[in-house]
Amino acid sequence: MKKAILGIAFVVMLCLVGSSSRAQNAANREKTFKAKCAACHGPDAAGKPVMKSPSIKGKTADEIQKVTSTSPKHVALKSLTADQMKEVAAYLATLK
Ligand code: HEC
Repeated sequence: MKKAILGIAFVVMLCLVGSSSRAQNAANREKTFKAKCAACHGPDAAGKPVMKSPSIKGKTADEIQKVTSTSPKHVALKSLTADQMKEVAAYLATLK
């Protein structure tokens, strides 16, 4: 009986650890987007007419890579790593 309780406690613990690291990843993605993109594209990525920036909701890592290597508006983002672009793309994919 004791073993069963311990077993259940262990599984519950694993679930908790798993879900909190997923939440952590999501928070990191949002943080990268807010730090690097939100000033121009808006807090919800919908674009900002004053900045002449379009909505970037749902943009992929490839599209982000392309724009950061070709658009003069994005020269400051040349230092973004491929991982950071993937992070931002993953965040943009969650926006509607
Ligand atoms: C300095 C302001 C600025 C920042 C910061 C910025 N952008 Fe942009 N972005 C623009 C403007 C202006 C355009 C439209 C003109 C152009 O592409 O140069 C644009 C266009 C884009 C496009 C092309 C959209 C389309 O439909 O063609 C993508 C993708 C994009 N940005 C992604 C990003 C991402 C991702 C970040 C953050 C990592 C970011 N931008 C940060 C100003 C900015």
